[in-house]
Amino acid sequence: MAKIVILQGSPSVKSRLHGVLDRVRAQIASSGIEASVIAVRDLPAEDLLHARFDSEAIQAANRLVEEADAVIVATPVYKASFPGVLKAYIDLLPQKGLQNKIVLPIAIGGTIAHLLSIDFAMKPVLSTMAPRNILAGVFVLDSQVQWNEDGSAAIADDIASRLDESVALLLQEVNWQTNKANV
Ligand SMILES: Cc1cc2nc3c(=O)[nH]c(=O)nc-3n(C[C@H](O)[C@H](O)[C@H](O)COP(=O)(O)O)c2cc1C
Repeated sequence: MAKIVILQGSPSVKSRLHGVLDRVRAQIASSGIEASVIAVRDLPAEDLLHARFDSEAIQAANRLVEEADAVIVATPVYKASFPGVLKAYIDLLPQKGLQNKIVLPIAIGGTIAHLLSIDFAMKPVLSTMAPRNILAGVFVLDSQVQWNEDGSAAIADDIASRLDESVALLLQEVNWQTNKANV
């Protein structure tokens, strides 16, 4: 069965990014594909700061990435780029850690002025790890995501459909690749 990993790059406990990812995960689950989550904020801080390639927690996370057919890299925009904690983990992935994988970048930011952080900050870093394909990506404005009282997220219709379309494209590519490998 195909596998997808969601690399969740927010250092914050309750980021609107999590609301976005709840939707993404629900869509993946309804397609019958297994998705695991690596939340960088849950990785041991010292292992990240000291670049401990031999850390058990880092190696376990790296195994999830290695076994995945696709990786969704989801992050808030910090200083027109992505948070250092996400980069600290990415630095601990193998040189070709995204080889043969399809990658979907998702960013959430406070200003549309940083829409291109996906292209200028995320893609150059991700492309060093030899991915098969990096999809166009989705930029979400944080004002498009609100928390409901029950803890669920309300996502504005226009960006919700962009997210759905991008995840559908990812699933299509993953299924195509998996079927091809099984022929
Ligand atoms: C340290 C820091 C730096 C930020 N820098 C930017 C930025 O350069 N551009 C931008 O669009 N948003 C920036 N933001 C806003 C976050 O991207 C946005 O608040 C976040 O994605 C969603 O907010 P939440 O995690 O609080 O829900 C920054 C936020 C923080 C905490």
